[in-house]
Amino acid sequence: MLRTPSLAFCVWLLAAVQASVSVPAYAQAAQVPDTLKQRIAACTSCHGEHGEGGHDGFNPRLAGKPERYLYQQMLDFRDGRREYPLMEYVLHPLSDAYMREIAHYFATQHVQYRQRHPPILTQALLDRGQQLVRKGDPSLRIPACQACHGKRLTGAQPDIPGLLGLPFSYISAQLESWRNGTRTARAPDCMRAIAVRLRPRDIPAVSAWFATQAVPHQDVPAPGDALRQRLPMKCGSVERP
Ligand code: HEC
Ligand code: HEC
Repeated sequence: MLRTPSLAFCVWLLAAVQASVSVPAYAQAAQVPDTLKQRIAACTSCHGEHGEGGHDGFNPRLAGKPERYLYQQMLDFRDGRREYPLMEYVLHPLSDAYMREIAHYFATQHVQYRQRHPPILTQALLDRGQQLVRKGDPSLRIPACQACHGKRLTGAQPDIPGLLGLPFSYISAQLESWRNGTRTARAPDCMRAIAVRLRPRDIPAVSAWFATQAVPHQDVPAPGDALRQRLPMKCGSVERP
């Protein structure tokens, strides 16, 4: 069954984690082995075994995202700040400790990015996307995306996710969700403020620009202390160092 060393390592890791956690009552009753692998089986059906994301671009990648970011997102779904009924349902029975473990597992996975299929947009729109990412738009009071997501756009530890490698459909859906209030973060919600300031055509522009960029070999979130000290807006989900 173990076909690759990485899978073997993974199973070993899961067994090691298992030894340090208690078995929930439902797992005992059903005689299901209580391994982390077992617990994340519900997650991997949508997010992929190593969190590489679904084929359709809709079920997002989790692999390699900052650990505290992933944990916070789970709390956001569970506590109703972020709406997606299936996610809320699967997270509802999980304890905070389990969620932290699951966040750690996905944050430490490093797997290839899926091939993306960005829509073909005009050069003018892609230029507008690049302008928002690199410089922002002072006339709309929008800071550059890179001021918070990092110059390399790979995010910053421990709270800010990277934006490279994400599919067009996921980025645009998240920005729309912030605009219509189905995704919120702890106040002050800087991403909501930014999303509502964007003009409607800015969302496809910026999402397509991200989706057309190559992911650098060093795709890991940068150590974020310096960046977090000089964010251009306050973000409730980012703790200042
Ligand atoms: C039915 C498919 C499905 C299942 C099962 C599922 N997810 Fe998700 N998950 C999604 C979708 C779709 C989103 C994005 C929702 C949105 O648009 O906000 C998401 C978002 C997330 C995010 C936020 C990602 C980000 O970058 O912001 C995390 C973290 C997450 N899921 C963890 C889990 C965990 C842990 C489990 C298992 C306990 C799980 N998911 C089970 C479909 C699923
Ligand atoms: C002031 C800082 C700041 C700026 C500027 C900023 N972001 Fe963000 N962004 C954040 C934070 C913080 C999060 C995590 C929010 C949360 O906890 O849900 C985030 C999350 C996101 C996500 C969700 C990623 C995922 O994996 O689900 C997207 C998409 C995003 N930002 C796009 C953008 C774009 C596009 C721009 C530029 C137009 C931008 N951001 C500018 C701080 C910022």
